[in-house]
Amino acid sequence: MGFGRGKVILLGEHSVVHGSPAIAMGISRGISAVARAAEEDLLTLSPWGLQVRPRSDGSEPLEQAFAIVLGTYSNRPPLRVDVQVDLPSGAGLGCSAALGVAIFDAIDGALRISRSREELGRMAHEWEEVFHGSPSGIDNMAAAVGGVLRYRKGAPLKPLSLARPLRVVVAHSGERSKTKEMVSLVARQLASNPARVHDKFDDVSDLVDEAEVALSIGDMRTLGRLLNWNHGILSSLLLSTPKVEDLCRLARAHGALGAKVTGAGGGGCIVALAEDGEHAHRIRDVLGSRSFVDEVRQ
Ligand code: MEV
Repeated sequence: MGFGRGKVILLGEHSVVHGSPAIAMGISRGISAVARAAEEDLLTLSPWGLQVRPRSDGSEPLEQAFAIVLGTYSNRPPLRVDVQVDLPSGAGLGCSAALGVAIFDAIDGALRISRSREELGRMAHEWEEVFHGSPSGIDNMAAAVGGVLRYRKGAPLKPLSLARPLRVVVAHSGERSKTKEMVSLVARQLASNPARVHDKFDDVSDLVDEAEVALSIGDMRTLGRLLNWNHGILSSLLLSTPKVEDLCRLARAHGALGAKVTGAGGGGCIVALAEDGEHAHRIRDVLGSRSFVDEVRQ
C-alpha cells in the first residue's frame, strides 16, 4: 500500500515559491494507493469516479502526470493503480502532491523497489509540475516525509524536533482554492512592485526563523503569534477571503493561540494552533463539520 500525506503549511507559503524558507506539517489524512500487474496501464480514482490512462500528450493533467510516473520505471509490466482519497482537493492541503507520492509509493511496492521517503518526495516533484507549473516542492516533500519540516528550495530538507506536541485544527472555508491562480496572483504583485513584495517575503523569512526556535523550546504562544502575523502578510497579498477571515477570527475568539490561511489561499483551509488536545477538540466543535484536529509529536 502506498501513502501520501496531506499537509498544512504553518508558515511561509507563497514566499517559499520565490526562494524563502517555510515550515510545513504532514497531517494524518492523505491518499492511499495500491498497484498491481494488470492487462493495461490504468489509474482509478473511485471516490472521484475517474479512470485515467497515461497519455504524455493528453489534454488532462492526470493523464500526463500518470504518463510521467510510469515513464520513470523501466522493464515493468502494465500496472493498474487504485487510489483511495481521504483529503479534500482544492483545499490547500496538498491533495495533488499526496496523490503523486501515493502512486509512486504504491508502484515502488508492487515492483519491490525500496527508496527513502525523501527520495520519493523528490520523485513526485515532476508530477506536481503538471498541476501547478512551478511548485516550490514543499508539498511533495511534506506528503512523503511527514512530521514538521523546514523547507527551502535547493537547501537540504530539515526535519524539526518539537519540545511539545503540536496540536492544530484545520477548517475548510468551503471555497475552492486554486494553487496555480494564487501563485500567479502573487507573481503579478511581485512583478508590479518588487520592493514591496520582497519586503513582505523577508518578513515571512524572519517569522519562519523565529517559529523554528519557538517549536524547539515548546513556546506555543509565540508560535501562535507568528502564525497570526504570517496571516496578516498573506491577507495583504490578497490571499484571504471573508470566509477565511471569519474562520480565523472565530478560532482566535475561542482561544486559538494563532490562526491563518494555509496553502495557496483564496479560500481553502485555515490552520489554528491549540494549547492541547482537549482545546483543539473544543475549537473544532466551534469551527464546524468541515474541520478536524491533527497533531504531531516528534
Ligand atoms: C501550496 O501548498 C503552497 C504554495 O506555496 C505553492 C508552492 O509552494 O508550490 C502556495
